[in-house]
Amino acid sequence: MIGLVVAGIVALGAALVVGMLTRRRSGVEPDGRADPLRREVVQRGIIALFAAALAGVVASAVDYVWPSVTGTTGGRFRVGTPAAVRARIAGAGGKPEYHLHGGFYLAEYPAADLVAARRAYPPGQLDSLDLGLVALSQKCPHLGCAVKWCRSSGWFECPCHGSRYSPVGELERGPSPRGLDRHPLRLVGGQVEVDTAATYLGPRPGTHTTDQPAKGPHCY
Ligand code: FES
Repeated sequence: MIGLVVAGIVALGAALVVGMLTRRRSGVEPDGRADPLRREVVQRGIIALFAAALAGVVASAVDYVWPSVTGTTGGRFRVGTPAAVRARIAGAGGKPEYHLHGGFYLAEYPAADLVAARRAYPPGQLDSLDLGLVALSQKCPHLGCAVKWCRSSGWFECPCHGSRYSPVGELERGPSPRGLDRHPLRLVGGQVEVDTAATYLGPRPGTHTTDQPAKGPHCY
């Protein structure tokens, strides 16, 4: 995407330069022949436009294969007491809390679904869910794009190829090989600490421990 923007700016700049130069000369000699300088400038302009378009195609191909992910990971983040975090999420209408610097979302895990969770998740992950929270990596397991929270559907959705995930990061649709990866949570001095240096792979497709259908239209 960045490559396309840069290519667009280059192409626009080239077109403006060509336009300015060609306006400065009439383009026709007194004997009726085309001005050689104008011809050369136009040819160079066409070459510049072609090169910019080619750069855009290459950049978008690179973007597709190695998509960019925002945020840095690898640290520990204290985010408040479990009750305080759940209250913040509830206050935002259930919208998971985004932590830019950690590259993760904190979502509420419904207490009523812990029985189903015990059948689907290994013990290490259940420790987190028992706090009523789950820390989800924003990195889509398909090709690494940053997933977004879609307010209208109430799901996480990936803008790159359309994978969709429930609010607790379980795969609902799309080409992703699994649900969103997650980071361990633990209590330190009564505070929830998210360790982004460690990652559990997301649950396999077909894992649906909560009943959280899409609420409305999808974003991607
Ligand atoms: S990167 Fe392909 S669906 Fe998310």
